[in-house]
Amino acid sequence: MAIKIALVTGASRGIGAATAVKLAQQGCDVVVNYLSRAEAAHAIVRQIESLGRHAIAVQADVSDYAQVHQMIETTVRELGGLQILVNNAGYSSHAGIEQLSLDEWRRMIAVTLDGAFYCAKLAVPHLRAAGWGRIINICSLRALTGSAHSPHYATAKAGLIGLTKSLALELGPYNITVNAVAPGYTDTEMNRKSLAERGDQIRASIPLKRIATPEEIAAVIAFLCSEEAGYITGETIGVTGGLYMR
Ligand SMILES: NC(=O)c1ccc[n+]([C@@H]2O[C@H](COP(=O)([O-])OP(=O)(O)OC[C@H]3O[C@@H](n4cnc5c(N)ncnc54)[C@H](OP(=O)(O)O)[C@@H]3O)[C@@H](O)[C@H]2O)c1
Repeated sequence: MAIKIALVTGASRGIGAATAVKLAQQGCDVVVNYLSRAEAAHAIVRQIESLGRHAIAVQADVSDYAQVHQMIETTVRELGGLQILVNNAGYSSHAGIEQLSLDEWRRMIAVTLDGAFYCAKLAVPHLRAAGWGRIINICSLRALTGSAHSPHYATAKAGLIGLTKSLALELGPYNITVNAVAPGYTDTEMNRKSLAERGDQIRASIPLKRIATPEEIAAVIAFLCSEEAGYITGETIGVTGGLYMR
């Protein structure tokens, strides 16, 4: 495809990093957003530059509107526009309803839902100006199944599906598609502890009998960002190795 400018939040590692590299392979210039791991983000920038594409690393906490505003301004100033937004930044934490603190509930909603809303709100004028756009929200299988030990995570991720459908309806007339990707267990730092503790049990529960690589999730995200996916909007695409059927 023609060169497009993409912003991937939480791209210093895991699914976001694999997505940033995949989009660069697909011909995009990429903004690599990160929260705290500057060195990891700069390593992804160097990997993208070695592919012959432009990239910059931008630190911003997506739950902070002023920081997101600054990040979008930097994106447009340094790379010349914005056409693709991947709302990937996120984290997980575990607590049942009685243990879950008010602060943790609010932090999860702030990073997951406020973050995606802020990024989309500030990116859309640039996507509209380009006359073409893609927004991908990374939710989770837990958005569809619920979670007995992370109600805040499952609820925030389910909210992203509502945002996805609403923006797809509103932005379709502007040639902007909006979709969600719902990964299952993926081999990243986010769930390294659970995989170390009960990896065999988790693998046994998955019809494909293995954990996804970040690259397998990134491939689906990158497809949804491509010209070829131009007639797909408002969808939530599960990439779960079949776990959704269990
Ligand atoms: N791994 C899985 O099994 C799985 C399954 C379903 C859904 N997902 C979803 O997929 C997405 C990526 O997960 P992952 O497994 O790749 O996670 P990961 O390896 O833990 O990476 C998380 C990324 O998000 C960034 N981040 C965290 N909080 C942020 C904030 N407030 N502002 C900006 N960036 C922030 C981190 O930046 P720093 O490196 O700078 O800290 C890092 O780049 C998440 O939304 C997650 O919920 C993952």
